[in-house]
Amino acid sequence: MNIFEPSARAISRAADIIRSGGLVAFPTETVYGLGADASNPEAVIKIFETKRRPLFDPLIVHASDMAMLESVVSDIPPAAKALMESFWPGPLTIVLPKSSLIPEITTSGLDTVAVRMPAHETALELIRAAGLPIAAPSANLFGRISPTTARHVADQLGPSLEMILDGGPCSVGVESTIVSISPDGCTLLRPGGIPVEEISAFTGPVLLPGSSDKIQAPGSMPSHYAPRAELIIKEKITSEDSGSDRALLFFREPAFPPPPLSEILSVSGDLREAAINLFAALHRLDRLNRNIIIAEEVPSSGLGLAIMDRLRRASVKP
Ligand code: TXA
Ligand code: MG
Repeated sequence: MNIFEPSARAISRAADIIRSGGLVAFPTETVYGLGADASNPEAVIKIFETKRRPLFDPLIVHASDMAMLESVVSDIPPAAKALMESFWPGPLTIVLPKSSLIPEITTSGLDTVAVRMPAHETALELIRAAGLPIAAPSANLFGRISPTTARHVADQLGPSLEMILDGGPCSVGVESTIVSISPDGCTLLRPGGIPVEEISAFTGPVLLPGSSDKIQAPGSMPSHYAPRAELIIKEKITSEDSGSDRALLFFREPAFPPPPLSEILSVSGDLREAAINLFAALHRLDRLNRNIIIAEEVPSSGLGLAIMDRLRRASVKP
């Protein structure tokens, strides 16, 4: 079995694998990552191969401390510094100009690099022990549901991985929020674990991509996070929506008894709890092998923006 409790010994072995150009799956507070030495092109290419990810979709580089971060980027504008001080370690990724340490394959040829410091002790210990910035996308096959447990990783990528560090279920459950900083301000490239409302308290109004056309998040495919079943989003699920060919994903406890093939993201309608449960619930519903998953809309405020983004992409067929 390649799933390991994150003991000092396991972390030291994982760090050896990373240093010698191999891959390790590890927990973060958002989702599990598939990590490699961000500065080693031969190691990074293995991430793309293992996930079957297109080479034009750049990776996020994870650092354990500011000195390491400074080796990865060539400039930290004051607005970015302020965000780092407020939200790191945590689920916020910032796109900055890259340094020469980071090869082009990591950034898909861009001269910027997406960086974050994860708020997870195992992730930080692994990066520290490796002594290297670690490039890591979510540890799932490209386009499929992101993993929030070691078991999810093993189910999708198990046989191709030497080591999966098991840190238990992820505490945030959706990927990091990605922003870029330019003289025009702060642009939201992907909604995620830090609500935009919290970011704009520091940066002023957060721009949406398109309002500044230079900035793009290359990997933001319309179809992503997809279960095998067809996923349909409805404003409200009613008792008429149940049927033997379908599974239901409720946001909160419904007014009628939920049918057997259903999941409730948060009984009380708490968006944080819903985000934590989102991917695990989708994995479970997908394993029921129904043709259709009907998912209920959640409010588009706070973490709801990230949840709706994932549901919309999961509803688009590749
Ligand atoms: O929470 C997370 O961010 C997780 C954990 C493992 O840290 N990682 C993650 O990585 O979600 P991934 O590969 O699913 O998302 C990377 C996305 C790319 O698809 C792209 O949209 C954006 O980050 N990105 C990366 N580098 C970029 C760059 N230089 N400019 C703009 N967007 C970039
Ligand atoms: Mg991903």
